[in-house]
Amino acid sequence: MLILGVETSCDECSIAVVSGGRNIISNVIYSQSEHELYGGVVPEIASREHVFVIRDIFSKAISKAGIDTNEIDGIAVSQTPGLVGSLIVGYSFASSLSMALKKPFVGINHIHAHIYATHLENNLEYPYISLLLSGGHTLICNVKNYNNIEILGSTVDDSCGEAFDKVAKHYGLGYPGGPKIDKLAKSGDMFSYNFPHPRVDGYDVSYSGLKNAVINQTDKFYVSGKKTKEDIVASMQRVAIDTALSKLYKAMKDYGYNNASIGGGVGANSYLREQVLKSQYNILLPSLELCTDNGAMIAGLGYHYIRDGLYTPIGSSVNPKKIRGSNKNNTS
Ligand code: KG4
Ligand code: ZN
Repeated sequence: MLILGVETSCDECSIAVVSGGRNIISNVIYSQSEHELYGGVVPEIASREHVFVIRDIFSKAISKAGIDTNEIDGIAVSQTPGLVGSLIVGYSFASSLSMALKKPFVGINHIHAHIYATHLENNLEYPYISLLLSGGHTLICNVKNYNNIEILGSTVDDSCGEAFDKVAKHYGLGYPGGPKIDKLAKSGDMFSYNFPHPRVDGYDVSYSGLKNAVINQTDKFYVSGKKTKEDIVASMQRVAIDTALSKLYKAMKDYGYNNASIGGGVGANSYLREQVLKSQYNILLPSLELCTDNGAMIAGLGYHYIRDGLYTPIGSSVNPKKIRGSNKNNTS
């Protein structure tokens, strides 16, 4: 079964063709670069750019897959959460296409799709714990099935990716901040600043205290080293990632699960990936391209919904709302 996946929740416009929920036949990702000028995503520019490029991305995804549009068995699209204007472009495109081709249609929770991304490359049995670290969300989840995901914890303020982006913006490193900090941190001393580890009960996390310490109180936490930007961001990265991983390890221990996965853009972080490799746990990470927003994860998860006949009525709409800790019982 060939599913077309469309992802436009933020500033990536991506369309993919995935077979059987697993085999990526094509995965075209266009990352908008205009936002770097502004140090963050400008929603109106993002939506307009999606309108401009989406047909071309679609044609590329189809031609790279070497198929005819009639061979598509179903269409999946990011429906929530994200920037409303960006979501609407992908949703309108995908729903219109499904009407034109007379194929089943499903709207996907793109956070669930980040969690699903690991399944595109690995055999991972349910249940497992998933740590989701994206630009908008930081969640620890008990993943019981592809559509049964319990939130155990979340950030009580900023997301992990947001902390990377805001610290990078403050130090003039550009947007998105995560990759810039990741690169700069390689030549810094990660122990030169002893930034505070956020202390929040249970599986929740907090990043605003760390972000503020890194932006406003560096002298207070200086220990040794050269007092360079590299040292600051390397120390920040260590605390941000260790905090998230400690909650993941705690959940695995408490639930007695041997398996876990990490999803979302911060999953591409090289310090995080090194720590995971060193850990005693079986924690699976998607390849770099599948950590950040992409159509393949939407098509992969969409396959399961369409296979099980769980279609979305074309007339329903997008939902930009963030998933918060107060809404812990489900992520829909
Ligand atoms: O999952 P994603 O592509 O989009 C959302 O759904 O938000 O995540 C984007 C986030 C941004 O905050 C970006 O700075 C961060 O992922 N990110 C990274 C790295 N690559 C992307 N953070 C740390 N290290 C990286 N290598
Ligand atoms: Zn995302």
